[in-house]
Amino acid sequence: MEAAPHAAKMSEPVLWNGNRLQTQVADLAKGTITIRSLDWERDRFDIEFSLVEGTTYNSCLVFGDKVALVESSHAKFRDLYLRTLRQELAAHGRSGVDYLIVSHTEPDHSGLVEDIVEEFPDVVVVGCKVCIAFLENLVHRPFKRQVVKGGDVLDLGKGHELEFVLAPNLHWPDTMFSFDRGSGVLFTCDAFGSHYCSPDPFDSDLDPILPHYQFYYQCLMHPNAKSVNTALRKIKDLPYTTIANGHGPLLRFNVPELVGRYQAWAEAVSKAPACVAVLYASDYGYSDRLSQTLARGVTKAGVEVEMADLLSVDPQELVELVGRSSGVVLMAPPGDSADARASLSTLLSALKPAKHRVVVAESFGGRDEPVDELVRSLVASGLEPLVEALRVKAEPCEAVYQLFEETGTDLAQALTAKEQIALKKASMPSNVAKALARVSGGLYIVTAAHVGEGAARSAMVASWVAQASFEPLGLTVAVAKDRAIESLMQVGDYFGLNCLGEEEYSRLMKHFLQRFPAGADRFEGVDWFPAPHGSPVLKDAIAHVECRVVSRLETSDHWVTYAEVLDGQVAAPEKRTAVHRRKVANYY
Ligand code: FEO
Repeated sequence: MEAAPHAAKMSEPVLWNGNRLQTQVADLAKGTITIRSLDWERDRFDIEFSLVEGTTYNSCLVFGDKVALVESSHAKFRDLYLRTLRQELAAHGRSGVDYLIVSHTEPDHSGLVEDIVEEFPDVVVVGCKVCIAFLENLVHRPFKRQVVKGGDVLDLGKGHELEFVLAPNLHWPDTMFSFDRGSGVLFTCDAFGSHYCSPDPFDSDLDPILPHYQFYYQCLMHPNAKSVNTALRKIKDLPYTTIANGHGPLLRFNVPELVGRYQAWAEAVSKAPACVAVLYASDYGYSDRLSQTLARGVTKAGVEVEMADLLSVDPQELVELVGRSSGVVLMAPPGDSADARASLSTLLSALKPAKHRVVVAESFGGRDEPVDELVRSLVASGLEPLVEALRVKAEPCEAVYQLFEETGTDLAQALTAKEQIALKKASMPSNVAKALARVSGGLYIVTAAHVGEGAARSAMVASWVAQASFEPLGLTVAVAKDRAIESLMQVGDYFGLNCLGEEEYSRLMKHFLQRFPAGADRFEGVDWFPAPHGSPVLKDAIAHVECRVVSRLETSDHWVTYAEVLDGQVAAPEKRTAVHRRKVANYY
C-alpha cells in the first residue's frame, strides 16, 4: 500500500540520563489514539540485544462510553507520559480512565501502573490471572482489578468490544492480546514489535524497519517459537486490520506480510532436531530473564525450546513436555512454594536417565530451592547434570547472562552432537568441496568485549574474513550462529580483528580453539590491551583493526557480519599473515 504522511503530535523533548525522551500522539483507528513514548537513544536491552535506533513504548486510548488505556509506559517517562495522557483525555472531553488493560507486567510497559492507579483511583486494572498476581507485588496500593480469561469480552460501549486472547510466553508468562471488534485493532504488546524509534508512528516504509523486526523476533520470540505458533492459531480468524504493538512502528500497511514472517520463522523451528524444556518460576527473582537468556543460547544452536512455569504448569502438561524433550533446564524455584514442590516431584518421576540431559541453575530470588539438593535428587534418580549447577551469587551482570547463554548453547550442542557427526560423515568430500577449499583465507582472532565491571567478553578463531568496501574501509566476517561471540557482534557493537603471523600463529590459535566451558574467560593467560572502543587487542598479533558492525546477512548456519574499520595498527611490519589452507570446504 502507498505510504502516506501521518499527522502526529510530538511533545518537547526532555533529557533522562542524557537520553532524549519524547511522547507522540497519533490517531490510530475509529475512537482510538496511540500515545507513544519515544526513547531515542536507548542502546541496549539485554546482553544480546543492542539497539541502534532506540525504541518506543506504545500505549493506546480507546474511547467508548468508557475509556480504556491499553498499556502505559516505562517509569522514566513518568511526568512526560502522565502530562500527555491528561492532555489527550481533556482533548477528548474525558476526565479519567475507566480501565487499564495490562498486557504483561515487564516494567517497560507496566512501570506506570501504580501512577495510573494513583491518578485515577477508580480505574479497573484488567489482566490475566498471572498478570494480576504479579501486579500484587508491583503496585503498593489497593487497586480495583478484573481477571480475564481467553475469549472474555469487555464492552466499552460505542461499538468497542475488547476480546482477550491469552498468549503466554510472547514473551512473558502473562502476555495477553486484546482485539477491539469495533475498530479492528489487535493490541499485542511485545509481539510483532521492533526496537526502532522514528517520527513515523506507522510501518509506512517497511525496508528500514525489517532488519529490526527480524532481529527483535530472534532475540525475544525465537526462544518461544512454539508459543508463537499457538498465538498465531488463536488470532487466525480475528478480522484485525491494525496491530498496535508495544515497541516500534505500529502495523497498519504491512500486516499480512509481517504476521506471515512470524508464521514462517516459527514454523521453521518445528523442524528442529531436538527440543529443550526450560522450566522456570515466573516473576520469581531473575528466573524469567535468566531462563530467557539460556533459552536463546539453546536456539542459537538450532534446537527448539519450550518454556513452562513451574508455579502454574499443569502436571499432565509437564509430563508431556518432558516426554518430548531430550534436554531439561531447571531454574531453582522458590523452595517454600507448594506449587513448585508439586511440579518438582512430577518432574523427577518424568525424567529418564537414558534420554534426558539436565542443567540446574539458581534464580537469584532469595528463596531459591538449594541447587545442591536439586542436584542430589537428580543424581539419586540416575541423572547426572550436564554441567555443574549454575550459581548466581549477586544481581546478575552481563558475564552471568553470558554464562547462561553459553550453557544453553552447550546443552543444545550436546543433544545434537551425534546428528552433527552423522551429517558431516554424510557430506563426504566431493570435487565441489575440494574446489571450494582452494579459496583460502588468513588466520585471525576476532575479539569483542562490552566495557564495564561484570561485562561480557569473548573471542574466536576466524578465517572467513574479507575486505568488503573502500569507502568507508569495511570488511566481512562470517560467524557461525552458535558461536558465543555472536551475541557481542550485533549491529552497533565493536570488535577487534587480530592478524596471526605465519611463523607464530599456532600458540594463539591452539589457545582460542580450545573448547571453553560456558562463561570461561577466553583471555586468561593471554596478553592483551583494549583498543579505543574496548575490543581486546592481542599483544602477539602482528596487526589488528577495530571495527563497528554495520549490518548482518543471515545464511543457513552463519551470520555474515559487515563492519566498518575504525582504527588499526601494524605491530610487526616485517611479518606476513598466516594463510589457512584446507583440503575440503565441509569443515573449517
Ligand atoms: Fe517490552 Fe516484555 O517488555
